[in-house]
Amino acid sequence: MNQPTMKGVTAVNAPAFVQQQKLINWVAEVAALTKPAGIVWCDGSQQEYDRLCAEMVASGTMKKLNQAKRPNSYLACSDPSDVARVEDRTFICSASKEDAGPTNNWMAPAEMRSTLSGLFDGCMQGRTMYVVPFSMGPLGSPIAHIGVELTDSPYVVANMRIMTRMGRAVYDVLGTDGNFVPCVHSVGAPLAAGQQDVAWPCNKTKYIVHFPESREIWSYGSGYGGNALLGKKCFALRIASTMGREQGWLAEHMLILGVESPEGKKHYVAAAFPSACGKTNFSMMIPPLAFKGWKVTTIGDDIAWIKPQVDEKTGDVRLYAINPEAGYFGVAPGTNTKTNANCMACLTSNTIFTNVGLTDDGDVWWEGMTKEPPAHLIDWQGKDWTPAIASETGAKAAHPNSRFTVAATQNPVIDAAWDDPAGVPISAFIFGGRRSTTVPLVTEARNWVEGVYMAATMGSETTAAAVGQMGVVRRDPFAMLPFTGYNVSDYFQHWLNMGKMIASSPSALPKIYCVNWFRTDADGKFVWPGFGDNMRVLKWMLERIEGQTGGVEHLFGTTPAFGDLEWDGLDFTQAQFDTITSIDHNAWREELKLHAELFEKLQHHLPPELEANRVALERALSA
Ligand code: GTP
Ligand code: SPV
Ligand code: MN
Repeated sequence: MNQPTMKGVTAVNAPAFVQQQKLINWVAEVAALTKPAGIVWCDGSQQEYDRLCAEMVASGTMKKLNQAKRPNSYLACSDPSDVARVEDRTFICSASKEDAGPTNNWMAPAEMRSTLSGLFDGCMQGRTMYVVPFSMGPLGSPIAHIGVELTDSPYVVANMRIMTRMGRAVYDVLGTDGNFVPCVHSVGAPLAAGQQDVAWPCNKTKYIVHFPESREIWSYGSGYGGNALLGKKCFALRIASTMGREQGWLAEHMLILGVESPEGKKHYVAAAFPSACGKTNFSMMIPPLAFKGWKVTTIGDDIAWIKPQVDEKTGDVRLYAINPEAGYFGVAPGTNTKTNANCMACLTSNTIFTNVGLTDDGDVWWEGMTKEPPAHLIDWQGKDWTPAIASETGAKAAHPNSRFTVAATQNPVIDAAWDDPAGVPISAFIFGGRRSTTVPLVTEARNWVEGVYMAATMGSETTAAAVGQMGVVRRDPFAMLPFTGYNVSDYFQHWLNMGKMIASSPSALPKIYCVNWFRTDADGKFVWPGFGDNMRVLKWMLERIEGQTGGVEHLFGTTPAFGDLEWDGLDFTQAQFDTITSIDHNAWREELKLHAELFEKLQHHLPPELEANRVALERALSA
């Protein structure tokens, strides 16, 4: 028990390995506010992880899966009201509203602090508060940053241990006066004395709050994903993007992959697709058989931190990227040995599954995992599920945003440099949305500004990754709409500035591409096979980077002609190619209206180069 010693402070006994008084004082302050029954200082050990998992099995939060089929793996099923990120409950509380910009929810910091102190007062009663120290990026790397999450959810602790470098060694890096981002998380479900807990505690009221100036995160009411694993979207994107703006680097919603040709020429590319639009898949893609000798390797599947550094060989300034995470929190539905065999190989053991179906033999199943569904299983809501029930009621075995949490080291195609503190040099940026119409398969920007324009005006059909309406096109600049921690127009300017900085050495400036794997035919079916066949597009990009191959210029960039892509091993006709590459001028007139609408909304600080690019496009279209 922690007895309040005076108003606002609780005496805490930190273990000897915690060396920083400022950290201990902060833990004491939060404990005084939230009033947990006890405090556990996590050391990140396997024993600690196993103990927490055993406790969660006992409490009903998780089930242990069949040890023979899926060793050391668990299934957690959440409350049906807590299954995805809550964008309308996510706040950027900068001092001035303009700094949060028109795409973020904002509340004045003082007002939010008073709301939060009400909500957090006593919110951990009857629960344990865990102190979770973590490093985003390799421990001690000059690019890495440290956070400490205080949470009353053991599920969060277990996931953070997989997703970040978590544990005792972080305290050594922190030392007596190192900086950390303070992250406070509560499920918002205090327990009265003797009150029986539920399997997935959470609260109807949810607040995911960021204070960019003081670099603090406060999250209340949800135990799920990006709402609760605060190293991920809250720190590594929203807070880190504001740090990057100040310090001259980029925090992006991007996968990073390495691709090596049979001749041994290797490039790294970073790609931004909105949530549930294929980053994990692309980052561990298996090239088609015809691409003998080509290798794709993973640096990261969701987040990239990118910093300009001098290339020692050439003296040029280049962009180097690291993956700040240490694991994957990936979408389960649709993942199978055909679409992503490497991902399936990651999941054979040591995995936490959340909101998928439980088979009768104690294994997991989700829609799209196998062609033949099991005859019976228990769905993510604990109900009986059979194919007949599914076709009658539409019940899903797995929630569409069900996920797996697995360590990056389980990836059979992990890149040798994935943990390198120096990062890897980026040759190209790829931006892609989910668009059933209008946007062609691939376009190369003719210059940096045109590329930034493409990324800034990107649209995508919404997915189950966030609570809200699905399948409607929304503008999702840089796939960062829910993740930019400051005014998005200032963020565009930051991208333009980064380009100008590197432009002094043009060969070091990454090329920018816009892709769309999701054009559909008259029956609503995807025309492009996607997945491993995306290698065909990637290869064309690499040839462009190497200055080898042609392409044709169209209204807003350069695109491959049918003959410019490698078709070996795929039966894909010129007519099909035309369906997914055609540029319908009427559709583009409508599209440009949406760009104009977006720019109107983002007027404040919108870089004039982007508006000029829009006007030029409009002119080209009507010419
Ligand atoms: P977040 O983790 O939410 O940021 O998502 P992500 O971008 O990593 O998405 P992920 O790779 O997990 O893919 C989500 C869904 O997109 C899955 O259901 C996949 O089956 C589907 N998908 C991925 N790649 C392709 C593709 O090339 N074509 C098509 N049609 N679908 C794809
Ligand atoms: C996303 O929604 O983009 C994710 C999953 O990567 S979450 O961690 O929940 O944000
Ligand atoms: Mn993501």
